[in-house]
Formats: sequence, structure tokens, C-alpha cells
Amino acid sequence: MCGIVGFTGDLQAAPILLEGLSKLEYRGYDSAGLAVRDGDAAIEVVKAKGRLSVLAEKTNSGQAMAGTCGIGHTRWATHGEPSEGNAHPHHSDDCSVVAVHNGIIENYQELKDKLLRKGYQFYSDTDTEVAVKLIDYYYKKYLGTPVDAINHAMVRIRGSYALAVMFHEYPGEIYAARKESPLILGVADGESYLASDVPAILKYTRNVYYIGNMEIGRLQKGKVTFYNLDGDEIQKELTEIQWDAEAAEKSGFEHFMIKEIHEQPKAVADTLHSVVKDGRADLADVGLTDEDVKKISQICIVACGSAYHVGIAAQYVIEDLAKIPVRVELASEFRYRRPLLDLDALVIVISQSGETADSLAALREAKEKGIKTLGIVNVVGSSIAREADTVFYTMAGPEIAVATTKAYSTQLIACYVLAIQFAKIRDAITEGEYAYYIEELEALPDKITKIIEDKERIQWFAAKQAAEKDIFFIGRGVDYAISLEGSLKMKEISYIHSEAYAAGELKHGTISLIEDGTLVIGVLTQQALYEKTVSNMVECKSRGAYLMGLTTYGNYNIEDTADFVVYVPKTDVHFAVSLAVIPLQLMAYYVSLAKGLDVDKPRNLAKSVTVE
Ligand code: AGP
Repeated sequence: MCGIVGFTGDLQAAPILLEGLSKLEYRGYDSAGLAVRDGDAAIEVVKAKGRLSVLAEKTNSGQAMAGTCGIGHTRWATHGEPSEGNAHPHHSDDCSVVAVHNGIIENYQELKDKLLRKGYQFYSDTDTEVAVKLIDYYYKKYLGTPVDAINHAMVRIRGSYALAVMFHEYPGEIYAARKESPLILGVADGESYLASDVPAILKYTRNVYYIGNMEIGRLQKGKVTFYNLDGDEIQKELTEIQWDAEAAEKSGFEHFMIKEIHEQPKAVADTLHSVVKDGRADLADVGLTDEDVKKISQICIVACGSAYHVGIAAQYVIEDLAKIPVRVELASEFRYRRPLLDLDALVIVISQSGETADSLAALREAKEKGIKTLGIVNVVGSSIAREADTVFYTMAGPEIAVATTKAYSTQLIACYVLAIQFAKIRDAITEGEYAYYIEELEALPDKITKIIEDKERIQWFAAKQAAEKDIFFIGRGVDYAISLEGSLKMKEISYIHSEAYAAGELKHGTISLIEDGTLVIGVLTQQALYEKTVSNMVECKSRGAYLMGLTTYGNYNIEDTADFVVYVPKTDVHFAVSLAVIPLQLMAYYVSLAKGLDVDKPRNLAKSVTVE
């Protein structure tokens, strides 16, 4: 996820663009850049690696760039390391076409090969440079208008994009194009704006157009004209924004956490489609060959916190599907226990930030032993991403809330794809099973959406738990992995003591803590273990517990046992974590809200624990 801005009017553009980007830094902050032109002079491009402040310093807060028309970008790297060369804006070889982009061009390699055959050169590793040169190619080939050139490119591009494009031959104008990625266009007296999100332009205007998918906008001073894919002019309604600035930064959500919970369907789909196309997974970009996979004798997953919980879930899935022995270790333990690992082992380090000190140290420990390493990381160019032998990037985009949700969900997807692909390569599953599992993954985003749509019922129940002193989450197998994450979410943002327990383990001591009214949440997605866990829930109920059941539609007999039940859609048992975790994320969020706590920045915690 990145942030783009644009301005054309009579004021100096650069300071306005920088101000707009500062409101979008939550969307990405590893590099930034501006393209500004003064009248019909050449388009000037300035870029900088690092936070926006570096670019502001480089351009003297924009004063050093003259011109009243420009575009800007703050980056969250998806293709190509964070660097000045990969920073946007990107441009054609003669700088006659310059653009910024938010989104993912899925077929960028295919398009890049086409352009290379046409004689184009490339200076960056980004998918965006490919998009810009494709527009340039059509602009020069058909000698049409910018709208024609952009239309031709949109037909060829697969993926998501919000593009802002300047053409040297059209001074004072900016062209916007959109597919899936957010983009709004604003107008004021003699001025026009564009941005990825409302906060960037709220200071200047509340009058905006919401450009639709596969539509183009032509921004001139105080006027925006819209076109469809055929190049025909279309009419759009002007909308007045009612949000205040802070609400706008969270796209109208009250907290980043609830916003990021809602972003999970897209994050899951983007991560899946970063390696799965037309029903087949391809780990080439990850860096694992079939030979590498066939050689793996054992897998050791190392991580902290929620990432560790992903590992616990992944253990069940990888062992069950790929028949490879899997160990899961807390990074803080792994690094000091002199682990015994085969030389043909694969150590997988899971980390959203890619900077967690314990996880980075564990990675280095494995590498010192000559063990092959794979990082599952959300931040491109982070330490773990750079130092691991191979990397599987999750496509969650920047995650601002300390309590992880969308990054956790995308890490699960990465592990599922690895399990399925490893199983296929090692002939542990048939072609038919392979296709079935891929289909089940493809169906997850819509099922997550359905669960989120039911959030009011969870909010009602959660609000009643605010006074709880102890909450227990219990489950067996994959349901135990779900319990671990549900308990951590609850603890870290509601400050209520909670424990996750393997349901069969409770009677070996901990059940002594169950008192009248103690909330026990039984996770029941694993049909083969369903009756066993129900029995454990009854054991708690007979000691006074208040029971919540979390299970799949169809298991309605749970109503005979549990006092409150949440249902989630069915999916293959291996992937149930991705669905059952959603109500538990929502429950923790609403309990924290009911207690009036700082949901996004809970006490004592940090988003990335870069110390031991
Ligand atoms: C989860 O909600 C916490 N924020 C925390 O447990 C986190 O998962 C852990 O610190 C690992 O962080 P990482 O994924 O960035 O390595």
C-alpha cells in the first residue's frame, strides 16, 4: 500500500504535495518522491529513500521545486527494495511521461519482457516503471491523447492500481486512472487535487469525486473530466466529505486495528495472488526450487508472539499435507538452546516487521549452522528479509495497530501455500487434492468478509465481558493454535488475564482456576475433535464456567452446551484458523473499546520489538 497525491492550480505545488503525503505516511514510509513542472518547462523529479522528512529536507520543504502542477508518492515497497532508484515517481526514458502508482501490477514481468523486446530499458526493479513505460509505448505508438494511451495500458495491465500521470505535452494537467486501489479527486476554485485517501486533501477541499474502477480522470485547474475505457466522456457526482481529519486518516474507522481487520480479505487475496496464478502456485519469486523442496528433511519455524502462533497452526498443516516433520520454536528460546537441526533442514522465520531482535538472532543462528533459511516477512528490505536466504513477502501493506491482524492472516496464507506446494512437489498429494486446496484458499477472502459483516453480534457479546478478570480459550489441534492467538489478542489490548489451553490439558491442573462465571471460549472447527472439546467445555461448565462456543455453521447442537455461540463458514479443516480468528480479533477489539482503552497503542507494547 502506498500513498499518492497530485495538484494543479495557481499555487506552488511542491509544498502542497508534501503536506498531502504527510497525511498518507501511514500508507507507506520507506521512500518518497515528487514530480513538479513550472508551466511548460521540463518535469522535475526529486526522490529520497527513507521517511518523508528526508524528501522534505532535500527539497527545502518543497521551496526548491518551482511549479504549479505536480504529483507525489510515499512508498510501501512490494516489488524492489526501498531505495532512491525504486522510489516513485517513475518516468519514460525521455521523461515525457512521469507517474506515481499505488497497487500491484501482477503481470509486470510479462509486460516488462514485451517492452524490452521493443527496445525499452529499465532503471528500477519496480512494477510501476513497467506501467509508466507501457503508457509511454502506447502514447508514442498511437500518437493519440493521454486518455488513449492510458486506456490501452489499462486493458493490458492485470492487478490493482491508482495511477497519477503527467505528460510533457500537456502542461498543467494530470491524468488519473484507477482499478481496485483507492483514489479520490478533489476540486476547489481554480485548483484540482488527487490522493489515495481523504486526509491528504481535506485541508484544501471537501468536494471530491470517487473515480470508479477502469475510469480515467483528467485534472485541469479547478476542473476534472472523466472518461471510460472506450475514451468516452462520463459524468460523475461531486461528493462533500463529512469526516474530520483524524477520522479520515483511518478511512472513517475509529481505530487502525478495526480498519486493518476490515482490510484482511484484500490482504489475504493479495498475498495469495502474489504466488498463485490460474490455480497454480509458483515459488520462483520466493527463491525455492523444486530440488530445494525435495531435499528438506525437517522444518523448524521460529518466531515471536502472533507470528509464533502462525507457526503452531502451520505445523499441523505442513505435517498433514506435505508429510515433513515440523518443529515450532519461540525465537527467544531457539537462539540460546543450541538447536539440533539436520543440515537439510529449512528454518522458516516469520515476522511482520522483519526487525524483531529475537527472530533476527534466531535467523543468524540458523545461518551460522549452514541451514537454509526462509523469511515470511511483511516489510520489504527489512533485516530479516535481507538476511534470509529466501523470502516470501506477505502483502498486508503497512500495519499500524500494535496488535497484529491482517499481517497475521497473510502469514497464515503464506504457510498454507508452502504446505500445499511442498506437498505437490513431494508427491504427497494428488493433482485433484492440489486443485481442491487452492480453491479453498481462493474462497477465504469472501468468507472473511462474511464474518466481518456479522460483527455487531460479537460487539454486543464483547461489551458484556469488560469486567471479566480471567478468560480461557480452549481447543484441540488447529483449534489450539486459534486459541493461542485469540488469547493474546484479548490480553494485549483489553489487559484482561487470559490463557489458551489445549482442551485436553485443562484437567491436569489449570481447571482449578475455573470459578462461577469464568468465561471459557471453546474453539470447535475440527470436526474430528469436536465431541472431545465439547466434553472439556462441559467439564468447565460443571464448575461454574460461562461458555462461548466458536464453531462452523451446521454444528448447531453446540447450543445445548454453550451459553453464546459464534459461527463461521466452513472451509477445509487445515485453513480454519483464517476464519475462526476473525471473531476473536473482533472480540478483543470490542472488549478493549468497552473498557475505553487505547486500542491501537496498548500500554507496555511496541509494534516491533527490536530489543531482546
Ligand atoms: C501481536 O499482536 C503482537 N503485536 C506481537 O506478538 C507480535 O506478533 C510479535 O512481537 C512479533 O512481531 P513481528 O511479527 O514483527 O516479528
